[in-house]
Amino acid sequence: MQHEQLLIIDFGSQVTKLIARRVRESGVYSEVHPFNKVDEAFLKSFNPKAIILSGGPSSVPDANSPRAHQAVYTMGVPILGICYGQQTMCEQLGGAVESSEEKEFGRADLNIIENSRLFEGLENIERVWMSHGDRVSKIPQGFEITAKSSNAPYAAIEDESRKFYGVQFHPEVVHTVNGAKILRNFTHNISGFKGDWTMAAFKGESIAAIRKQVGDGKVICGLSGGVDSSVAAVLIHEAIGDQLTCVYVDTGMMRKGESDQVVSLFEKHYKINLIHVDAEDEFLNLLEDVTDPEKKRKIIGGTFIDIFEREAKKAGGAKYLAQGTLYPDVIESVSFDGGPSVTIKSHHNVGGLPERMDMELVEPLRELFKDEVRALGRELGLHEDFVARHPFPGPGLAIRCPGAITKDRLDILREADAVYLDQIKKHGLYDDIWQAFAVLLPVQTVGVMGDSRTYDYVLALRAVTSTDGMTADYYPYSHEFLGETATRIINECRGVNRVVYDVTSKPPGTIEWE
Ligand code: XMP
Repeated sequence: MQHEQLLIIDFGSQVTKLIARRVRESGVYSEVHPFNKVDEAFLKSFNPKAIILSGGPSSVPDANSPRAHQAVYTMGVPILGICYGQQTMCEQLGGAVESSEEKEFGRADLNIIENSRLFEGLENIERVWMSHGDRVSKIPQGFEITAKSSNAPYAAIEDESRKFYGVQFHPEVVHTVNGAKILRNFTHNISGFKGDWTMAAFKGESIAAIRKQVGDGKVICGLSGGVDSSVAAVLIHEAIGDQLTCVYVDTGMMRKGESDQVVSLFEKHYKINLIHVDAEDEFLNLLEDVTDPEKKRKIIGGTFIDIFEREAKKAGGAKYLAQGTLYPDVIESVSFDGGPSVTIKSHHNVGGLPERMDMELVEPLRELFKDEVRALGRELGLHEDFVARHPFPGPGLAIRCPGAITKDRLDILREADAVYLDQIKKHGLYDDIWQAFAVLLPVQTVGVMGDSRTYDYVLALRAVTSTDGMTADYYPYSHEFLGETATRIINECRGVNRVVYDVTSKPPGTIEWE
């Protein structure tokens, strides 16, 4: 695609993806690539209009710490180094970095001491977010200091003639109050980006690309009921119409009314060829007495693939498999020690599907972040209620029903979850929450209703705020809301006589209970 592009060179910071998001929000297309993949040939083919060097966990004074390829500095394009990126740029251009005793972590006041195009439109003192131990101790020739903070005498530096800028703080995180403005000053004012990355343009280009890729071939797409696969399906349908067949496997682990919604939206509204498989019994049989969360995931993922494959064959001769893969899944993460990372949960529900089916992939959302997928969904005319949906895990209610899964327990959970979500929507809280759901515990407690003793399940409510699901805070409901919701659930749902609220953040908890 012919956009002006910004290159983000990743040194492994936890928040590198946020740089890409912030930059894209202002209409500039950007991609993240690991530092060790960016060499002269890569730079030539990528042809960036500007470069951002990310932060990272390493220490520049350490012998083997990563560096940007030297060619980055001779391309003649503007560069912004953030935190580690600033430090490595300084070191590579003849300055120096020292490990400092005084670490700076959290909010800090940035004192802007020189006029800088990077800080145009900002106050002299700005609230920013710092997270560093090392700091620049000598700036390279040609650079000057434009801002200080109490622990970073070189909080911002620049060489205006070369358009090289370095900041010790993180403009990409929301805690840096005017961070988005600073990044925009860099992309639009300093680097001259027009901001031509819009969803309408993306949609048009993407439809053309799908048509080119598949020609008159047939495409199969698995629908999960979630935003990503739905947006992918509607986009592909707009591109190739009846060459697309969607398969919706109802695992029996869906929420109340969800399967009906999928069928009516895709089959009735969009008139997309849809194979609707009711596989509840098959899944329930295989999951009988299974309590281990990872086993549940494996069984559900494996069975899904079996059924999908069987049904896809019935559709006959499809060469392409469509998937709603997003950009965060595509970005290669930087691993410094080369060791495998610990698997907390195996999220790749249908990993292995493309290999097994020997089909070519169509992944029209590969370049998009979740919020961009939502914007594309709106562009395609999907209803707001649908595009703004909370994420829902592939294994569905199976991982919200700790212990053994039975149809009866799933039905209790489905009802209670529906009342909970109804409460959230009625109170206008849905859009403030990243994800909210109920968990039916395998624990029964004694209660009293009317004059009778009850012995029913405990239901846990979960609601979190998050930007990407990697970290999360529990949502601070009012006591009134919690009390009213508990009363409604116990009155309206059989099988539950006690409701508790989960106030664990991630980390140390995870969002789902299993
Ligand atoms: P955790 O529980 O790991 O969840 O904090 C982070 C995000 O991932 C979702 N999740 C899954 N999604 N298959 C999925 O497709 C899974 O097995 C799975 N487990 C968790 C979770 O809902 C949250 O959005």
